[in-house]
Amino acid sequence: MSTAWTSRYALRTKGITSSQIRELLKVTQRPGMISFGGGLPAPDVFPVQRFEEACHKVLTEQAALALQYGETEGYAPLRELIASNMARYGIKAKVENVLITSGSQQALDLIGKLFINRGDRVLLEAPTYLGALQAFNVYGAEYISVPSDDNGLRTDLLEEPLRSGPKFMYVLPNFQNPAGTTLSEGRRHELVLLADRYGIPIIEDDPYGQLRYEGEHLPSLVVLDRENLRRDQGYSIGNVIYLSTFSKTLAPGLRLGWIVAPPEIIGKLAQLKQGADLHTSTFTQFVAYEVARDGFLDKHVKLIRKIYGERRDVMLQALQEFFPPGVTWTHPKGGLFLWVTLPEGLDMQALFKSAIEQDVAFVPGDSFYAKDGPGSDGREGSRHMRLNFSNAAPERIREGIRRLAAAVKSQLAGAKIHSEQPIEA
Ligand SMILES: Cc1ncc(COP(=O)(O)O)c(C=O)c1O
Repeated sequence: MSTAWTSRYALRTKGITSSQIRELLKVTQRPGMISFGGGLPAPDVFPVQRFEEACHKVLTEQAALALQYGETEGYAPLRELIASNMARYGIKAKVENVLITSGSQQALDLIGKLFINRGDRVLLEAPTYLGALQAFNVYGAEYISVPSDDNGLRTDLLEEPLRSGPKFMYVLPNFQNPAGTTLSEGRRHELVLLADRYGIPIIEDDPYGQLRYEGEHLPSLVVLDRENLRRDQGYSIGNVIYLSTFSKTLAPGLRLGWIVAPPEIIGKLAQLKQGADLHTSTFTQFVAYEVARDGFLDKHVKLIRKIYGERRDVMLQALQEFFPPGVTWTHPKGGLFLWVTLPEGLDMQALFKSAIEQDVAFVPGDSFYAKDGPGSDGREGSRHMRLNFSNAAPERIREGIRRLAAAVKSQLAGAKIHSEQPIEA
């Protein structure tokens, strides 16, 4: 008799589906496809030679340590390097405030594991990062979705949701995924004050903060929280847990991210991480340290900013040139994405299918909205698409936008014809 595995799945797996983006990435491997779908860095900016040299150095000089089990909190020199890099952005964390994770995605999972009981509500921006929803869903989170606009999360709408007592807020202040928007400085101040007033902590997810193509760096929430509220107490206490990653500045295949938090929270997260993977790959951490050290990471980030900034401009220009009137899009000052809003009444699934037939891919907006909880009816994303501009070369971006515009125009023409027909009951 064969085992009925599916009837034995734990309750927490109910309603868990695989990410639309992961599924989509499979189609985008097709030759000829231009993908604006995943959040993929450009492979041509991977510093391959530097990685080769780093691997060689680690294996010849430190193999005994680099191939051994390591500390759960992470490789100390890498944690120090992260702390000193963040200090330049005003995040004055000590080594004991930094936990290395297997990508920021693991950080989100550990945060869910530590804080979310089934039925707890998490306050988030609408739209928000799909991977966070996936991580929190497993722990039975429900959501309070608060609208955002071109200046990020609408802090003017926060008081009532905060009074209802969410477990925490999950916020992406810089070049948001998916919308590409940036939380304004005024709203950042308001947010940390509100968090303090209502005693609701913030998870600040910042994978893109260093990838700014125009304007001045804005202070992180974790910095404002400390400056505004507890000037001299460092990170022993605080309302903000900060997450970042090497995925967009070095390479996502490293699977290296980090969490900045007060030491007692780092300790608790480390206990939970032990159950998940004991520690993040020692070898990878040694290599990343060798790659990043001696100012290489800074030089590399400068190069990435230049290349992605150009690609963003090419995409914005092509949208202007090819897209029909009535379609709007955000103007991201950094990051990897922009967010397109289409006229009402368009069938997004049909548009997606038609785009794929023309060898161009994007992610339909509905993936980025929480499907349950107050403030979300699950239909809000149907007019949006997320476009990634980092992965394709400039001429491919132009061609992809031309194809996508053709698909949009033909869907709009179809929708118009359709709406002019009498509706039968
Ligand atoms: C907002 C956000 N958080 C977290 C992640 C996960 O990144 P990582 O590759 O470090 O797991 C991503 C990846 O795209 C992201 O956009």
